[in-house]
Amino acid sequence: MSGLEFDERTSRRVEATYLAPDVVRQRRIVREALSLHHGERVLDLGSGPGFLAVEMAAEVGPDGAVCGIDPSPSMLALAADRSGHAVEYRQAGAERIPFQDGTFDAVVSTQVFEYLPDVPGALAEVRRVLRSGGRLVLVDTDWDSLVWRSPDDALTDRVLTAFEQHLADARLPRKLPAALVAAGFRDVRTSVVPLLNVGYSPTTYSAGLLELVAEFVPGRDGITAEEATAWAAGQRALGPDYFFSLNRYLFAATG
Ligand SMILES: C[S@@+](CC[C@H](N)C(=O)[O-])C[C@H]1O[C@@H](n2cnc3c(N)ncnc32)[C@H](O)[C@@H]1O
Repeated sequence: MSGLEFDERTSRRVEATYLAPDVVRQRRIVREALSLHHGERVLDLGSGPGFLAVEMAAEVGPDGAVCGIDPSPSMLALAADRSGHAVEYRQAGAERIPFQDGTFDAVVSTQVFEYLPDVPGALAEVRRVLRSGGRLVLVDTDWDSLVWRSPDDALTDRVLTAFEQHLADARLPRKLPAALVAAGFRDVRTSVVPLLNVGYSPTTYSAGLLELVAEFVPGRDGITAEEATAWAAGQRALGPDYFFSLNRYLFAATG
């Protein structure tokens, strides 16, 4: 069975999840790390529903340019609806970025590299399209950092192990500093972006993630649809005792 397919249903679920205040905060932290100026050219690699791209378009202004690439037609459609003409979108992947060498002042990619089977190849492509001295910001999750209270720890372990199949590498961040240096990036800085949800609320990141997990795991590692539904219901039923904590890691580097 393959990983997560960003079809229309999944794309809409990701879009809804990324409206949560904790993900809005993450985008603010990413934009601070990028420190864009008026007139700059920036690439959003794996632009997804396009929230970050639209925010960056306001920062670079009409003299700058934001380009988003993503292989998913559903994600591109959501992003185009969101941004009008403020962002130029192309259907493409990290394997072959459809721009010439040195095109961009900055490249950003959030929650994308952990899906890629060839991280060194993608970093080489990013470095190629970044001008000398340009800035790169990556954000990825290390799923070993997950703390999720559950009324049934054994079932939760099985569900979350099966959910790791949605990624190429569920523990990528710990390898990224060395991978960035190996790809020729300089001045690599690492910071942590925690997501913390205490008390169940349907408008948080993890509430959306919970539904995505429950849809993804049936049929994997022997998990039935009934078990997935029961797991999700058990998590929601924790109510005020619900506890979710997960670390994303932000990498800033110079090309
Ligand atoms: C979890 S979403 C993140 C979207 C967006 N970067 C954000 O943070 O809002 C992952 C995105 O990576 C895209 N993606 C998957 N494989 C890719 C590839 N090989 N190259 C570029 N993007 C890819 C998916 O289509 C999806 O839009």
